[in-house]
Amino acid sequence: MKLLVVLSLVIVAIQGANVRHQRQFPDDFLFGAATAAYQIEGAWNEDGKGENIWDHMIHTNPNVIRDVTNGDVAADSYHNYKRDVEMMRELGLDAYRFSLSWPRILPTGMANEVNPAGIAFYNNYIDEMLKYNITPMVTLYHWDLPQKLQDLGGFANPLISDWFEDYARVVFENFGDRVKMFITFNEPREICYQGYGGDLKAPILNSTAMGTYLCGKHLLIAHAKAYHMYNKEFKPTQGGQCGITISVNWFGPATDSAEDQMAAEIKRQGEWGIYAHPIFSSEGGFPKEFSERVAEKSAQQGYRRSRLPEFTEEEKTLVKGASDFFGVNHYTARLVSATLYKEAVPVPSLLDDMDVGHNAPDDWATSASSWLVLAPNSIFNALKHLKERYNNPNFYVTENGWSTYYETGLMDDGRVTYYRASMESLLNCLDDGINLKGYMAWSLMDNFEWMQGYVERFGLYQVDFSDPARTRTPRKSAFVYKHIIKHRAVDYEYEPESLVMTIDEGH
Ligand code: NOJ
Repeated sequence: MKLLVVLSLVIVAIQGANVRHQRQFPDDFLFGAATAAYQIEGAWNEDGKGENIWDHMIHTNPNVIRDVTNGDVAADSYHNYKRDVEMMRELGLDAYRFSLSWPRILPTGMANEVNPAGIAFYNNYIDEMLKYNITPMVTLYHWDLPQKLQDLGGFANPLISDWFEDYARVVFENFGDRVKMFITFNEPREICYQGYGGDLKAPILNSTAMGTYLCGKHLLIAHAKAYHMYNKEFKPTQGGQCGITISVNWFGPATDSAEDQMAAEIKRQGEWGIYAHPIFSSEGGFPKEFSERVAEKSAQQGYRRSRLPEFTEEEKTLVKGASDFFGVNHYTARLVSATLYKEAVPVPSLLDDMDVGHNAPDDWATSASSWLVLAPNSIFNALKHLKERYNNPNFYVTENGWSTYYETGLMDDGRVTYYRASMESLLNCLDDGINLKGYMAWSLMDNFEWMQGYVERFGLYQVDFSDPARTRTPRKSAFVYKHIIKHRAVDYEYEPESLVMTIDEGH
């Protein structure tokens, strides 16, 4: 009898292990890694590049950055791009997501003056990837607006949509023959809320009442104009896709009460629904409950119209459906309460409009970034919600990753745990029928983490920022990710034998 129990336990255990191993990613699932121009390129004023809002902000006021550093040299990818592609080959990446610096291509922001050295740099980068069958995924805007356009109001000026459309045309004309995946904007929430409604990113406008909303509306129109232009003028011959990336962290209710459920819904709408709904919902426009709330608060505050500027019918139609895929940057989660965990916030502001509190339970692992915790199955929770709300568009997770301090060095077990948990959550998405097509790890290498400078490190490769050569060294997580990509599955037993990296045959 005892033997029987033991035997059946062994069988169950083996089956369990098999089930785990059977959960495989399809061969055409795109595994990649991501970076952004200002965070890696350096060469801030080389070969005709114009000044961007980060150059300007930091050179004017260096103390806004935690360790008083900047992106002047960063990982120096402008000079190390061949090494970057070598790292992609070492990892066996299918794709690489990177961004173009608008002022490197158009130094003043306007399309009357194109910088040939900027075009040449990106041509070289792209061609080097293609040589090794790595699919380039190109973000047109990852936060580095030409300063000259900021001087004219940046995203607070409705003409930004024309300026962006002109820039996008230059991009499609020059790179669209080889690049088949374009992302217009990276993270509208961070551009608009953190940069315009707050002081957490350049241009630190801190215009709390309306900054977020004004920027949001203009950005969405800019995205839509570029999308339609690509569709009409380039897609027929180039045959690529054009989408947008929105940061979608998961916000679930702290309890099952109706108040907390509504609080979580309002939080989701205020954080990312205001960008996703106008594009991906069937009715278009800003999400209903949130719009009503801002309108109501605005009236109470004595405004003659809502601080959230509604779209005209024409604009609504322009924006609705304007994306070939939904790029999701997902990192973390919070539990939302209607009454608890509230903090003092400026009035009026997006935060006051939402008027909810949130919390991360103590047993969710913490990273080097205050906002980043490991929440159970949170990619799945986010994508399942988006699938149901927006009729299951094609999704790419365009960023996901974990921060450590420099001191953690190469043995980054926290990151390994995080990536493995992410893989399980991705597999849950695939099992559920979510149209998830790919996943980009943030980041290929350590880079300039915005206001946190070089304090918080996200790289699969460590970068030595004190070394003029900016030497890159693979961390343990690089080997684990490589193993996952190669086997299209998560093997919990896998431990790299050494941290010596090689390029596998065929890469
Ligand atoms: C999202 C942003 O797109 C990226 O630039 C940033 O470094 C990561 N989050 C990590 O904070």
